[in-house]
Amino acid sequence: MSSAGAVDLSVKIGAVRLRNPIFAASGTFGYGLEFAHLVDLNRLGGFVTKGLSREPIEGAPAPRLFPTASGMLNAVGLQNVGVRAFVAEKLPALRRFNTAVIANVFGYSLEDYVEVIRVLEDAEGLAGYELNISCPNVKKGGMQFGSDPSLVAEVVSAARQAAKRPLWVKLSPLVTDIGLIARAAEEAGADALTVANTYPAMAIDFRTGKSRLGNKTGGLSGPAIKPITLKLVWEARKAVKTPILGLGGIETVEDVLDYLAIGASAVQVGTASFADPRASEGLVETLTNVLFESKAFTLNEIRDKFLAEND
Ligand SMILES: Cc1cc2nc3c(=O)[nH]c(=O)nc-3n(C[C@H](O)[C@H](O)[C@H](O)COP(=O)(O)O)c2cc1C
Repeated sequence: MSSAGAVDLSVKIGAVRLRNPIFAASGTFGYGLEFAHLVDLNRLGGFVTKGLSREPIEGAPAPRLFPTASGMLNAVGLQNVGVRAFVAEKLPALRRFNTAVIANVFGYSLEDYVEVIRVLEDAEGLAGYELNISCPNVKKGGMQFGSDPSLVAEVVSAARQAAKRPLWVKLSPLVTDIGLIARAAEEAGADALTVANTYPAMAIDFRTGKSRLGNKTGGLSGPAIKPITLKLVWEARKAVKTPILGLGGIETVEDVLDYLAIGASAVQVGTASFADPRASEGLVETLTNVLFESKAFTLNEIRDKFLAEND
């Protein structure tokens, strides 16, 4: 029997049953459709769309990406077609695929988040929502929703009331105590937590004194952030029972297993898709082979075999 037939990689994230624990991450996989000629979307656990807002957003001035040591800076400025165009133009084509499509949702006020979800609720073909709470709340002087437990509770409760579908909350890594934030999201009704977003950072050219990014500052991602994010997943894991999706710097199957070992139920792959659009699909294949070769036929068996208890 082939390894693919013998191994069961399926996982449950709340009420959602997934074929395997590998997702492509928001903002690095477009609306999925752009990748469909390169990647067999039906082999992924699923993917998270580019962040969707109430109105279309043109995004930040160029340059938007800059490579750094073991990572990448980006300041895309949350460019997207807007939630209505997504529903009208992208979602119908996505329904042809048998993969979990998670809509990433963001806004600059509670009303923005709720409105985006309200529009998506009327549409068929989504497995759930992922709230990006690393956004400034313009009504609260630009403070990030994700950096304050009471703002997290407010935005997650409002989204929870608007959403019938499963609700994942993607945490900001820029917090003093991720456990507090994770608990606030869980108590407000999150079905899963995604840990975490990029780290605010910058790069300059000393010759000109200018930033390497049009937006001056950006978000750091890629292998450079993996050890920092792994610790956040560990801390969040200790604080909540809600399933966690780990993401930050995943390139290899060892990275995937590290996140699963520390307590993530599934993972997402972001920056790695820039170098190799097939990175997430490749990881499904390698993870399958690793289990088969270890004579573990489910993720629970590999957990019992290899993955430590990290109390
Ligand atoms: C170019 C780019 C665009 C991104 N856009 C979004 C976005 O729209 N919404 C979001 O929640 N995260 C966004 N992210 C963050 C990623 O989903 C992910 O959290 C982060 O890059 C860390 O994972 P990685 O190290 O595997 O890339 C973006 C990241 C990159 C590199």
